[in-house]
Amino acid sequence: KFENLAKTPPMGWNSWNKYGCDVDEKLIMKMADEIVNSGMQEVGYEYVVIDDCWQVGRSEDGEIIVDKERFPSGMKKLADYIHSKGLKFGIYSCAGTETCQERPGSRGYEFQDARTYARWEVDFLKHDWCNTSTQNAQASYSIMRDALFAAGRPIVFSICEWGKSEPWEWGKDVGHLWRTTGDIRDSWESMISIVDKEKDLFKFAEPGSWNDPDMLEVGNGGMTTEEYKTHFSLWCMLAAPLMAGNDLSDMTKETKEILMNRDLIAINQDVLGKQGFVYRDNGDYQIWIKQLDNKEKAVCLLNRSDEVKKVQVDFNLLLKANSSIGWRTYIDPYELKDYSVRDLWEHKSVNIGDGTIFLTIPPHAVKVFKFVRN
Ligand code: DGJ
Repeated sequence: KFENLAKTPPMGWNSWNKYGCDVDEKLIMKMADEIVNSGMQEVGYEYVVIDDCWQVGRSEDGEIIVDKERFPSGMKKLADYIHSKGLKFGIYSCAGTETCQERPGSRGYEFQDARTYARWEVDFLKHDWCNTSTQNAQASYSIMRDALFAAGRPIVFSICEWGKSEPWEWGKDVGHLWRTTGDIRDSWESMISIVDKEKDLFKFAEPGSWNDPDMLEVGNGGMTTEEYKTHFSLWCMLAAPLMAGNDLSDMTKETKEILMNRDLIAINQDVLGKQGFVYRDNGDYQIWIKQLDNKEKAVCLLNRSDEVKKVQVDFNLLLKANSSIGWRTYIDPYELKDYSVRDLWEHKSVNIGDGTIFLTIPPHAVKVFKFVRN
């Protein structure tokens, strides 16, 4: 695969969660405009990705045919438009004979499609897993990886086989990110069940290779603001790709504050590239920790229950917590006196006194703190 890509989790927007098959060039251009106008580009969102349904057939010589009614200017023009805004262009295909929406897939056309994408100046390819019959996932995705490599344009390769053949075991050599579960839905239950899957996978993430718990639902209306804050916080703790999936031209103040929380994005984009792990699990209440560069650390206190939780938090212990291989030990030789603690949703420093404080966490909510070195 191309090295030196996706050294931090990719950030951008993808059409699927909100628009499904209802995509056209006007929509894509509008979303590109909105990434810039809303300020999202400034905080790191970069890839504009068209998901399924842009393709309608293959010509006699095997070239993929773009839906001319929905994309009359063609993909190269669309790519040029997106690039002119300083953004990057992503597209979608499938390892099987057809995509999940029964459009032509890339099976048997990998090298030709990869050359076409390179000609269009594509920067990101999401590769799906429908209609794959008895294909082997690792082998199939490796063909597309080789095809992209042979085409010569650096393209981020996003593996989307929903965790079926344990892509975390082989994905590092094949792509830059791999989905770990089936599709997210815009509900608390769906979101939190994905998190449960991710929690055992933390050791597989590293710069250039990420677990992908699917795209964001923030702003799509199925969760409360508090739940969306939790969703976004957990994706940041998980070093997950941050692909917005909402209508960027119609965002509430709350949606914008969530998607553009710079403190949380910095946790997600931390150059050490460690995924957060569960340090304490009391079922309803979990403590997540993410090791950061420069001996810093992020802590996310998650109240999964439907009741308000009162908790006692010992920052001395949390600062030393380390996800050593196999079992938790408390070995990081850090001292609280060298740090201040910042609340990443309140955007201010917290006075933690001698290290232990009491907190109240609303239902389905989080508190996220960062140990910042003095
Ligand atoms: C299944 C994927 O998991 C979704 O994210 C989306 O790409 C659809 N296929 C498109 O058909």
